[in-house]
Amino acid sequence: MQIQNDPRFKDITPFEKRQWLASPTMHGEELEYIHEAFDTNWMSTVGKNIDEVERLLKEKIGVPAAVGLGTGTAALHLAIRYAGQELYGKPRAFEGTLKGRRVFCSDMTFDATVNPVAYEGGEAVFIDAERDTWNMDPDALERAFELYPDTRMVVLAHLYGTPAKITEIRKICDAHGALLIEDAAESLGAYLAFSDGTSTMTGAFGDIGIISFNGNKIITGSCGGALLAHAQEVADRIRKWSTQSRESALWYQHEELGYNYRMSNVVAGVIRGQLGHLEEHIAQKKAIYERYREGFSNLPVTMNPLGGAESHPNYWLSCVLIDRDAMCPAERTETETTWTHVPGRSCPDELFEALKTFNAEGRPIWKPMHMQPIYREHPFVTAAGSAAPADQPAHTDKQSADSSVSADIFARGFCLPSDNKMTPEDQDRIIEIVRRCFA
Ligand SMILES: Cc1ncc(COP(=O)(O)O)c(C=O)c1O
Repeated sequence: MQIQNDPRFKDITPFEKRQWLASPTMHGEELEYIHEAFDTNWMSTVGKNIDEVERLLKEKIGVPAAVGLGTGTAALHLAIRYAGQELYGKPRAFEGTLKGRRVFCSDMTFDATVNPVAYEGGEAVFIDAERDTWNMDPDALERAFELYPDTRMVVLAHLYGTPAKITEIRKICDAHGALLIEDAAESLGAYLAFSDGTSTMTGAFGDIGIISFNGNKIITGSCGGALLAHAQEVADRIRKWSTQSRESALWYQHEELGYNYRMSNVVAGVIRGQLGHLEEHIAQKKAIYERYREGFSNLPVTMNPLGGAESHPNYWLSCVLIDRDAMCPAERTETETTWTHVPGRSCPDELFEALKTFNAEGRPIWKPMHMQPIYREHPFVTAAGSAAPADQPAHTDKQSADSSVSADIFARGFCLPSDNKMTPEDQDRIIEIVRRCFA
């Protein structure tokens, strides 16, 4: 039945203005810095805004070096390429640094996290998620090192702003002599606070970390990314790669493969203006999360996890996980979905349709990489062992045959509108729409 004609939703009025998952929240300083770039004619990939963004990031995240880049994906590519070169040496210009090598990667994430492994000719081995943070499972990672002991690189994402079990993962990487690339695209400002009074921001645990300033992130430049490094030489080398690897010579001299990945000084102006509002944005997102938690307290759902006592998320997106016995019969093929309503039950795809009908945006949880057609032949490791290709789940398009944590969260999880500018009344209407789905 069409949601619009469904009596469960009678008397709900559509939002006049679309309610977004997460949209840019501008403050005014951004425009001043864009003007500064314009007035000084630094309409380029050089300028004060870029220098200031790099300085502010070093200060905020507590790393010695930062490089402003065009996107988070570009930052991941250069981070992974750098690590590949450190581990396996400089390849010939037409070959990737990871040719024939395996890299352990988060399974439940956006494909931007893992694609650069393929750009560099490597094979991503996907590591299942755990339930306490929805991020890479340290037990599955340990298992992966048993199965593929010669692997030397791990790429981990902190999803939806909740820090992964990163101290455990860091230890595992160190024990196996592996480099850790930390995708903090979604988790700027999230940190772990330790019992000795110290704390570490996400992005600073890895050998190299990255952030995204994509339009939907907690701080945006409309686009943009940054790479975080623990040594100035690493940052300088990567900065050079990002501007076509020009050597210091009078003419265009190239010893290494180059990219056009540098951040624009105009985009950097937006980020520079935004960065002072990070804490305010986190507080707004936290209030949204808590209002949802309260509003759903008697529905058969739980909120996305926040991690343990040390964890301080940035609450970028609020999500729900529907209880197993409250899932209505539902089936997904690769691109289509069907479900049958049963009173008291619902499913993520019904939540999606209901919100869309009333002009609000929701989204299923990231579809795990091991379930993606492009990566289906790749190995996938769960805490119980190797799940694919030998054991099949990665080859099936029926989630019911897949017992991994990431497939389960994908089947039952859903991201809710989490825009900073949403009013409590807007949010109450969203809560009511979700409630009616379970009527
Ligand atoms: C987990 C994750 N990694 C990487 C990226 C890529 O960042 P960008 O869009 O800036 O390239 C994103 C978001 O877009 C992301 O959510």
